Amino acid sequence: MGKRVRRIGVMTSGGDCPGLNGVIRAVTRTAIHDYDMEVVGVKDGYLGMLEGRFVKLRSRDVAGILTCGGTILGTTNKADPFRCAVVRGAKTAFENHSRDIFKNFNAMKLDALLCAGGDGSLRISHELFKMGLRVIGIPKTIDNDIEATDVTFGFDSAVQTAAAAIDAIHTTAQSHHRVMIVEVMGRYAGWIALHSGLASGGDIILIPEIPFDINMICDKVKERHRRGKRFSIIVVAEGAKPIGGGVTVRQIVKDSPDQIRLGGIGNKIGCQIENLTGIETRVAVLGHLLRGGSPTAFDRVLATRFGCEAVRLAATGKFGYTVALKGQRIVPVELKRAIARLRLVKKDSPLVRIARSLGTAFGD
Ligand code: F6P
Repeated sequence: MGKRVRRIGVMTSGGDCPGLNGVIRAVTRTAIHDYDMEVVGVKDGYLGMLEGRFVKLRSRDVAGILTCGGTILGTTNKADPFRCAVVRGAKTAFENHSRDIFKNFNAMKLDALLCAGGDGSLRISHELFKMGLRVIGIPKTIDNDIEATDVTFGFDSAVQTAAAAIDAIHTTAQSHHRVMIVEVMGRYAGWIALHSGLASGGDIILIPEIPFDINMICDKVKERHRRGKRFSIIVVAEGAKPIGGGVTVRQIVKDSPDQIRLGGIGNKIGCQIENLTGIETRVAVLGHLLRGGSPTAFDRVLATRFGCEAVRLAATGKFGYTVALKGQRIVPVELKRAIARLRLVKKDSPLVRIARSLGTAFGD
C-alpha cells in the first residue's frame, strides 16, 4: 500500500464539462474532513503539472462552486507530457517531458494525484502510472464515451442543453415548414445526439455508429411532407458519416493528444437535403454551448460521488484505477481497462430500437 497519503493533488484535464467544480469540492472536503489530508489544486491540467503551477485548496475555497460550470482550476486539452510542442524558429518539435511531472509532484510533496479527465487524460495518467506515478482517474466528458463507466458526469447536462435547444428550434421548423438540422458534439460517439434527439422527438437522428445514406434521409423528409408534416427535425452528431465515407473534420490541432476536431457535417447534409428535396433547410451548430452552463442535479450528485470515492481510493493506496459508475454503485476500474476502447452506441441498443419503434429514422 505504500506510505500514508497526507497531501493530495487534484486537477481537471481535457475539455471542460459541467460537474468539474463538484469534483474539486468533493475531493477537497472529503480529504480534509474524513482524512485530515492537505489538498493542492493543479492549474490547467497536465500543463500545470509540467510547469509547476499549484494552489492550496481549503474547505472555504470550494464554497459556492457546486452549481457553476467550467472549472475553477482551469484546464487544457493540449498538454501531453509525452509529446510537448517545443517551437524552435520556424519549426515545432515534440519532446517527452514526462519526467517534469514527477519532479513537480515530488517538489510539491504530493502523495497522490487525482485527475478528472476524458479518455486522452486517462491515457496519459495510465502511462504515468506505469512509470510509478500515484495517480487515480475520475472520468468526465460530455461525450459519455468512456468504457469503464455506465455514464460520465457532464453528459446529462449536455443532453439537457441540447434538448432545450432542439425544443426551441421546433417552433421555427413548424412555422416555416423547414427542415431544421441541429448538430451536436460527441466526437466519435452518438450518445448526445441519441439522447437529446429522443428527448426532443427528433424525426431523424444521425450518429457515427450508424452511417447514413442521404437518399434515405430525403425519403423520410418527403414522406413526412406527404403525410402533412411539412417540417422535419434532424439531430446530427458531429461524428456522423455517410455509408462508405469519412467524418467531417473542422480543424487539426497539432499539439493536442487527439488532433482531430470534428464539425461541419450539419451544413454538408443541409445543402444536400435542400438540393435533393427542394425543401428549405437551415442548420444550427450547438458546439461548445453543450459544455457550458450549470450542471444538472444528476451531474452534481455523480461528480460529488466520484470525487468522494476517488479520495477513498487514494487513502487506501489504490493507484492506477479510475472511479466508475456501475449500476447504482461507484467502483474502481483499472485505468488500463478504462482506456482500452471507446464506449460507443451499439447499433441494436435498446434506445436505438425504441427510437425506431417510435418512427425515428437513422438514415440507414
Ligand atoms: O470531448 C469533448 C468535446 O467537446 C467533443 O465533444 C468535441 O469534439 C471536442 O471536445 C471539441 O474540442 P475543442 O474544445 O478543442 O474544440
